[in-house]
Amino acid sequence: MIEEILPPGVRSSEAFDDLAPAPLFPEEAALMAGRRERRRAQFATARACARRSLAGLGLAPAPLLPGAGGAPRWPAGVVGSITHCDGYRAAVAARAAEVTALGIDAEPAEPLPRGVLGLVASEDERAALERLSAEHPGVCWDRLLFSAKEAVYKAWYPAAERWLGFADADVRFSPHGTFTARLHPTEPPPGAPTAFEGRWLVREGLLLTTVATPGTGE
Ligand SMILES: CC(C)(COP(=O)(O)OP(=O)(O)OC[C@H]1O[C@@H](n2cnc3c(N)ncnc32)[C@H](O)[C@@H]1OP(=O)(O)O)[C@@H](O)C(=O)NCCC(=O)NCCS
Repeated sequence: MIEEILPPGVRSSEAFDDLAPAPLFPEEAALMAGRRERRRAQFATARACARRSLAGLGLAPAPLLPGAGGAPRWPAGVVGSITHCDGYRAAVAARAAEVTALGIDAEPAEPLPRGVLGLVASEDERAALERLSAEHPGVCWDRLLFSAKEAVYKAWYPAAERWLGFADADVRFSPHGTFTARLHPTEPPPGAPTAFEGRWLVREGLLLTTVATPGTGE
């Protein structure tokens, strides 16, 4: 499903349950020691997805451990992203020459809990969501905004290695499955991304967002 909203060059793998997680490398298993079974299963399934995506790039299985800020440390020359929510796990990977920044997020296609939208949306974004909700009532636009910002954060962080708050990005949706994010953090690190283009999809009770920045191919 997620491959529908990814550009060429990005390999993806997804799972809708934890029935066939690949075995973990010892370093990964050590990380999950003492964690709740639900988290271990989710982590293992996401790693299985990541290894399938890396295999699609011709790369051998290797441990995928968290680095700075919790972002996974992908093999050299590779960018990638992981998401999990109830009923869905996915991982994507691409050669950094082809795609320089990559972020994905999945959420249940349900309205945000009361009070959350005020924490993630500006007044302008809320007004835009109200217009979209009136014209396209079948989409949970508030949850979609939250998801898009999570995908943006996952693409931003490996490049910037710095926190990005919900107020630091202005996200605008097209009802036809795309969005843009303009970033305006205070004191952005030199060379950090200033904008992202994204895509979204709602299907089977899930809502998926992706962000991918094309590379030069070199
Ligand atoms: C980190 C965060 C984005 C994860 O999103 P989530 O919806 O809670 O959870 P998901 O299951 O979709 O994603 C979890 C995966 O994100 C990845 N991740 C965690 N921190 C990350 C980071 N700093 N950068 C990139 N990816 C990260 C990990 O792969 C993690 O899975 P793993 O622990 O099994 O490896 C979220 O918890 C968070 O901290 N958000 C606040 C920051 C933010 O979103 N700002 C908005 C900017 S516009």
